[in-house]
Amino acid sequence: MARATTIHVCSDCGHETPRWHGRCPGCGAWNTLVEEAIVRPAAAAGRGGAGGPGGSRTARGAAVAPVALARVQASEVARLRTGIGELDRVLGGGIVPGSLVLIGGSPGIGKSTLTTMALANLVGAGRRALYVSAEESAAQIKLRAERLSAAALQIPVIAETDLGTVLATLESERPEVCVIDSVQTLHAAELSGAPGSVGQVREVAGEIMRVAKVHGIAVLLVGHVTKEGALAGPRVLEHLVDCVLQFEGERERTYRTLRALKNRFGSTSEAGVFEMRQDGLVEVLDASARFVSEATRAPGSVVLAAMEGSRPLLVEVQALVSPSDLEQPRRVVTGIDRNRLALVLAVLARHGGVAVGSADVFVNVVGGVRVDEPGADLAVALAVASATRNVVLGGAATLPLACFGELGLTGELRSVGHPERRLAEAAKFGLPTVVTPESGSLRNALRTALGGAQRARAA
Ligand code: TYD
Ligand code: MG
Repeated sequence: MARATTIHVCSDCGHETPRWHGRCPGCGAWNTLVEEAIVRPAAAAGRGGAGGPGGSRTARGAAVAPVALARVQASEVARLRTGIGELDRVLGGGIVPGSLVLIGGSPGIGKSTLTTMALANLVGAGRRALYVSAEESAAQIKLRAERLSAAALQIPVIAETDLGTVLATLESERPEVCVIDSVQTLHAAELSGAPGSVGQVREVAGEIMRVAKVHGIAVLLVGHVTKEGALAGPRVLEHLVDCVLQFEGERERTYRTLRALKNRFGSTSEAGVFEMRQDGLVEVLDASARFVSEATRAPGSVVLAAMEGSRPLLVEVQALVSPSDLEQPRRVVTGIDRNRLALVLAVLARHGGVAVGSADVFVNVVGGVRVDEPGADLAVALAVASATRNVVLGGAATLPLACFGELGLTGELRSVGHPERRLAEAAKFGLPTVVTPESGSLRNALRTALGGAQRARAA
């Protein structure tokens, strides 16, 4: 039989063409054609066929009887605990056997390190595991494992980029857990597209999932995040997998957070905090203590009582406002959403009496933590106000001022989730003043935070 060929399918209109075009001949959209393998004849026959020669039987299966949900037997499956507390918590209690987890993150963030550590613990606990590296040679993986632990050296590894070989190895080894590092560097020989292209990524993930489901293998798929911050081929993979974990932070900083963006077996509000050390990733259980003790009592600094999932976390937010000679002043943020800063600056100017005008504004969440919650608005506003006025927040107190709250467009403060946990965390570290949405408006919050200085200038 002739070798399986491929077609190019438009991801917008579904038009199929044998060759790739920059523009879809069907709907005229640009860059929407994705290469796909033509379903193999054997597989097609198994599914009832599409009415080809010899396909005289119609594509009909046998009927099944629906069952009331109350009568469905849900057996509690024991999860595979990775022994990394933060990872297990984000997963909802460990890896579900036979599930497919996508771990995304930018290069160098520590995805290989995290997955290697997880497998090392699983192997140590007597689980069958397999580490497939399509990025690094076995020697490189060994170097990393040596830094981590003796157990990491016991992980069975293959360094392979060919999808067919990986699938065959999975079938013969039948591990309980397998890491694919990464989904973008594996290559399906049937497709002519380069590794990492949408067609390839979809084929690789789909085939691995098929084999994994048949044999009940739990798979951790490592995926790189593109510059735009999206997982390559995100639409394709996100609906396919059971969990999507995002590993983020600044590469040159030590702190990293792991979040669940999607989880069929647990909550998506959990997050874990890690620190990259010489000997691997270490869970940070007392993150608040670190950040508070490192907080600077200087103009432009404030402590945000944030929530990382269901846990409160105190982080320092810093702002710098400096004169600019650029026509378009800089708005640089790390750790928060850039659009959020634009909104906060507009509300500050309109309702807080603090205008940064044409100055450059830099806002930074210290330690490389990302805060993706509206409760960070007030911290950004107070930090910028403090920097603009060159006033230390919280007056003469020795410990920093803390705050949380969302800013409304009319200058009001809006409540955010878990105020009592945030307040309790601030109290635990003895922070004397916490500015909360109870203040009512941004103007009131600024008055409390800036103290006499605000009144003097505002008069
Ligand atoms: P890596 O896990 O290879 O990142 P990714 O797979 O996400 O691309 O590791 C990222 C960085 O972490 C790398 O630059 C080296 C550093 N590192 C440590 O600082 N300590 C360690 O123990 C290890 C294994 C790596
Ligand atoms: Mg890696």
